[in-house]
Amino acid sequence: MDPRPVSASHTTITELMIPSYANFGGKIHGGILLSLMDKVAYACATKHSGAYCVTVSVDNVDFMQAVEVGELVSMKASVNYVGNSSMVVGIKVTSENVKLGFVKHTNTSYFTMVAKGDDNKPALVPPLILETAEDVRRFVEARERRRIYFESRNKMNEAKIAFDINEEVKGLENERCKISFDF
Ligand SMILES: CC(C)(COP(=O)(O)OP(=O)(O)OC[C@H]1O[C@@H](n2cnc3c(N)ncnc32)[C@H](O)[C@@H]1OP(=O)(O)O)[C@@H](O)C(=O)NCCC(=O)NCCS
Repeated sequence: MDPRPVSASHTTITELMIPSYANFGGKIHGGILLSLMDKVAYACATKHSGAYCVTVSVDNVDFMQAVEVGELVSMKASVNYVGNSSMVVGIKVTSENVKLGFVKHTNTSYFTMVAKGDDNKPALVPPLILETAEDVRRFVEARERRRIYFESRNKMNEAKIAFDINEEVKGLENERCKISFDF
């Protein structure tokens, strides 16, 4: 399978934030932004792999600044890392107020997408050609985030197996919760 350069699957979508996207506070719903991020992640992953892809996991979704009705939201996506069938797509989200002439960076998030074959099983994706030092930095960071994620997932699974209600309750004394049953 021939490797493909990061630049071949760069994808950007821009969308006008219309009033029906707003929540009760008049700001844009987080769910609207998540849905747009999912679309751009799909477009980018399918361009790299040439296959149908599914979203497996979403990382780092912290909306630091509100998006207003009338702003132009742009989502810039690129494949940061590839495994065997998985691809980590980094998405930088910015929102532009055209009238006042400023652009704000609302968040950078990472979507893990998996390519599927006609049998609906995970399918091998092309290796990634890293064309710049920035591509190398993103690849290495994504690999590290993935390692930390799997390590913490294993630890959580071990913690679940070791769960002992008597021990756990003792550790809750300084937390803002109250035990309302006998055990
Ligand atoms: C995710 C899914 C593809 C895993 O399938 P599987 O047969 O268990 O395959 P594997 O365990 O080999 O995982 C496939 C890849 O996904 C990666 N993966 C699995 N779970 C992951 C997670 N939680 N986070 C990141 N990567 C994950 C694996 O590391 C593997 O990567 P690699 O091939 O690059 O090494 C499968 O469970 C699926 O199709 N889920 C539904 C996805 C979907 O419908 N999404 C839409 C959201 S509504």
